[in-house]
Amino acid sequence: MNQQRPLEHDLLFDFLRVVEAAAIEAARTMGKGERAYSDHVAVEMMREVMDTIPMDATVVIGEGERDEAPMLYIGERVGMGAKPGNEGAHPQVDIAVDPLEGTNLCATGAPNAIAVLAAAEKGGLLHAPDIYMNKIVVGPSVKGAVDIDAPVRDNLNAIATRLKRRVEDLTIVVLDRPRHRKLIQEIRETGARIRLISDGDLSAGISAAVAGSGVHALMGIGGGPEGVITAAAMKCLNGEIQARFMMKDQLEIPEDRAKIADGMEERMREMGISDPRRVYDTNELAPGKKIIFAACGVTDGTILAGVRFFGTGKRTQSLVMTTETRKVHFVDTVHVEGGPDSFVRFDRI
Ligand code: FBP
Repeated sequence: MNQQRPLEHDLLFDFLRVVEAAAIEAARTMGKGERAYSDHVAVEMMREVMDTIPMDATVVIGEGERDEAPMLYIGERVGMGAKPGNEGAHPQVDIAVDPLEGTNLCATGAPNAIAVLAAAEKGGLLHAPDIYMNKIVVGPSVKGAVDIDAPVRDNLNAIATRLKRRVEDLTIVVLDRPRHRKLIQEIRETGARIRLISDGDLSAGISAAVAGSGVHALMGIGGGPEGVITAAAMKCLNGEIQARFMMKDQLEIPEDRAKIADGMEERMREMGISDPRRVYDTNELAPGKKIIFAACGVTDGTILAGVRFFGTGKRTQSLVMTTETRKVHFVDTVHVEGGPDSFVRFDRI
């Protein structure tokens, strides 16, 4: 491990390069209707740039098991330190990647597709399998006021009180899925507003922790890996996630149950998740002391603009942040590519 500078200092802007490059590749495929292809180009680019970084990284959340994912599979080692002969030369980190979060969103040009990753010192991110996870995500002012097991009405009252507004003035994001019929009904009964999204509960969770985004909470069942990456973001933004893995018998809709293999609980125990059915909090999902989070907009979204292409280059907007330096960078990058006539336009934020 490099003793001179903190881990974050070394890697923060390297990870910015990674998510920018993946987002640009994916954004080129926007609207083509080919979600697998969009994901594929983002994965390839993320993998390529990762290998230029002075780190010895292990993918703990990635594209899946080795046999189904040729790149960025769980357990794969990436970075300069993974090359033979470089053993011990670079800091060891665990990384969780979602090269294209919201593949359908990119394929249809819908809002909030992002390229995203989180990193931490070894053991700093829970190794979550790709199964469903029930989540509630709130921002810093609401931290400590909600309970995933409490009635929806109680949670919304608590959020409204902390945010000093009426329940009717809240906007809650929920994935538009049949499994959420009851949740949506319960939220509607309180009078709170709902934003139903077709995909992308990770970027919605991040928005819930950023004041001014117009999102006050994310609720409902989405992917487990997205939950761990959300937790890494919450550590940097002072937000909160509470989550519970959903086993086959806890899901009511047959099509959702079909996605979870039998024997999953046993497998999770083998992966080190001793009680798969309990509630996990932010620190348990992302226990790392040195967490880095990086995301770049692919399509235009609530807090990040999508990639813009113009004659002499492209422009990206990213969010990069760390727990140790406690800095949250919104990075607006102009990738100048043209000749001497290239120009950079200034946009006041
Ligand atoms: P992909 O990026 O893999 O397409 O996932 C998108 C997503 O909507 C996530 O944001 C969410 O957590 C999960 O899928 C929900 O899963 P499902 O579509 O099976 O309900």
